[in-house]
Amino acid sequence: MLKSLFFLLSLYLCVLGFQNPIKASDGSDPFMVYHEGYYYLTTTTWNNIQLTRATTIAGLKAAQPKVIWTDSTSSRCCNMWAPEIHWQDKEGSWYIYYSAGSSGTLDNQRLHVLKGSSNIIWDSNWSFAGRIVIPNRDVWSIDGTIMILDSTRYLVYSSWDGSDQCLWIAQMNSATTVGNAVKISTPTLPWERVDSNVNEGPAAIYHGGRTWIVYSASGCAGTGYKLGRLELTGSNPLSASSWTKYANPIFVGANGNNEPGHNGFFQSPSGNQIWNVYHASSSVPSTCDGKRYTMIQQVNWNADGTPNLGSPRPLSDNMPEPV
Ligand SMILES: *[C@@H]1O[C@H](CO)[C@@H](O)[C@H](O)[C@H]1NC(C)=O
Repeated sequence: MLKSLFFLLSLYLCVLGFQNPIKASDGSDPFMVYHEGYYYLTTTTWNNIQLTRATTIAGLKAAQPKVIWTDSTSSRCCNMWAPEIHWQDKEGSWYIYYSAGSSGTLDNQRLHVLKGSSNIIWDSNWSFAGRIVIPNRDVWSIDGTIMILDSTRYLVYSSWDGSDQCLWIAQMNSATTVGNAVKISTPTLPWERVDSNVNEGPAAIYHGGRTWIVYSASGCAGTGYKLGRLELTGSNPLSASSWTKYANPIFVGANGNNEPGHNGFFQSPSGNQIWNVYHASSSVPSTCDGKRYTMIQQVNWNADGTPNLGSPRPLSDNMPEPV
């Protein structure tokens, strides 16, 4: 009796659905993962790392975030950006990858890692697991994400090369150590060079045996922020020539949701759907701050097997819960 009541209730909640945004402020650089009955959401809040969790997207909108990390160590106290939660199979632990640096400047941003103490994300106490030192270029680095290919793991992140902020890849030797980095994308196309020359916020997506890196292009302040993509078309991900950039962006502003970007991908509870979580701004030009809100929508697939992210849907849309 109780069981069927719960079933009916969850069915009702699914039909009811939700409306974007799912986080109305401090929704920048979002990342989500679904694990053991809960969605987990993290975003950039600058001074700390916060997690929010709930069993439904509608529930996530109402849930209180929990601060899981602050740090007074001067080299990584501040500008905490773009946390991502990743399970590392070899270590059998959850890790949070994030960017941070020192007070009063953005020039010292580096990649850092926290380790969870429990297999349940929410129950974890988080401890500092290390800074990711890139052997061949220990310089400004942000937006680390994990790409997994045939059970080999790679770190993909963003770092400057001259006046271009580029994407780089390195093979991981452990959850916190990597080999030398190789540059796989430079902002060369006009739509990657609006306000500033930027490729950042990489996110891997896999489908039908193919792998893409979706990334954010152009300056986050201004009118040009959007998503582009690379596809792994060669065999060695550590070779720049293995990556092919698509000539056109894959996701641009629409319906009052401007400068959409810095996305992540997460699987629905059944594992049968992939959803895009990203931030957008109501203002033009947009600003690189906490006014950006978090949105989600389902990823579809084109007849040729490529991802179709659509365009940012109106905030007035009632969307069904992921299934
Ligand atoms: C987290 O830390 C508290 C306080 O030390 C401890 O009681 C608890 O068992 C820890 N939880 C996990 C899952 O490690």
